[in-house]
Amino acid sequence: MSLPTGRHAVQTALGASPLDALDYLRLEPQPAPEPRGDEILIEVNAATVGWVDLLMSSGQYQHVPEPPYTPGLELAGVVAAVGPDAAGVAVGDAVIADGLLTGPRSLGAYRRYGGFASWALAPARAAIPLPSCLSFDEGACLLGGYETAYHALVYRAHVQAGDVVLVLGATGSTGLAAVQLAKLLGATVIAAGRTPSKLELVRQHGADYVLQTVDEAGAPRRFRDDLKTMTGGRGVDVVYDAVGGDASVEALRGTAFGARFVLVGWTSTPFAARGERDPNVLPTNLILMKGVDVLGSPAAIAVHRDPSLREERLHAILGWAREGALRPLVSKTYGFDELHAALRDKWASRHVGNVIVHPSA
Ligand SMILES: NC(=O)c1ccc[n+]([C@@H]2O[C@H](COP(=O)([O-])OP(=O)(O)OC[C@H]3O[C@@H](n4cnc5c(N)ncnc54)[C@H](OP(=O)(O)O)[C@@H]3O)[C@@H](O)[C@H]2O)c1
Repeated sequence: MSLPTGRHAVQTALGASPLDALDYLRLEPQPAPEPRGDEILIEVNAATVGWVDLLMSSGQYQHVPEPPYTPGLELAGVVAAVGPDAAGVAVGDAVIADGLLTGPRSLGAYRRYGGFASWALAPARAAIPLPSCLSFDEGACLLGGYETAYHALVYRAHVQAGDVVLVLGATGSTGLAAVQLAKLLGATVIAAGRTPSKLELVRQHGADYVLQTVDEAGAPRRFRDDLKTMTGGRGVDVVYDAVGGDASVEALRGTAFGARFVLVGWTSTPFAARGERDPNVLPTNLILMKGVDVLGSPAAIAVHRDPSLREERLHAILGWAREGALRPLVSKTYGFDELHAALRDKWASRHVGNVIVHPSA
């Protein structure tokens, strides 16, 4: 086998914050690793630039690979070589790498092989055929967003046709996936965020209503009355909360009796995991009197604890993707030399939906 030397991004140390961590992220030459046993080598075509990559590089995520490692939780590409025992995968196959079996969020031997690289080594069982109707860019960001949304809306909140679902952080990767999935499940969707122009794009991608959570000065605004108006006075049945902080409390005040409030993330308070005073606090008196079910929704941890959850989830998402019922939005792509800028832009939430880097470009 003679494959050309490529490049990979190496996180040599963790940073005090995701932006500090960029000082320790370097592009270095990467000789193509040789797959052994049941391993495969993927030539990475597209990798998702994710919020979780940023959290991880500053030690904020629930588990972090030991540096040096290559970030990039999600990738799609072409199988370039296979080990002698690799079954069911052939050179030339277009694949999505299963981010729970390989890359920085996996727990085994492949944690240092992320997607910000020309080459990614993975076990053969991590290769998921890329649905033919999706581009590499779309395939790379298919699973993270929709698996998170599926776990929250289907497995935890049991969203039914006719429910009104409020999505906090609807312009984000998982948020937009939740908007699209909730529509597919027959719900009415209220998409919430800070920026009108970004929310307009979310409306074009399926939201029934959009709602600004901050005022012109960027300060939190009272929006419980808007939720009541949009729902004929009843309040929302489900909250998909990827944001935390002030917006969560306002959303709780706009729920219907017996609502399901699903906790997905806390982008407004990204350092809460440090043990500093946690601003993600929901008033227990409201939860009690409104009869609200507050549901934690860890899409990856739940599968590590109960692998049986995964089969149904992947089957549903890949099926919908193949039918064209779900298609992730990629609103910005970057070349590999622009990786640091891509990560900075992701942290600043400049783009709607998904951001992709092309390690080959
Ligand atoms: N539970 C799980 O299994 C799971 C899985 C994946 C991710 N997550 C978590 O879910 C959250 C969202 O992830 P993602 O990949 O969708 O991130 P993302 O693509 O970066 O989107 C996050 C959205 O949050 C909003 N946001 C960012 N900073 C904010 C701030 N300071 N105040 C208020 N809103 C802010 C932004 O919307 P606007 O700029 O439009 O307001 C942005 O579009 C993260 O906390 C992530 O860790 C959880």
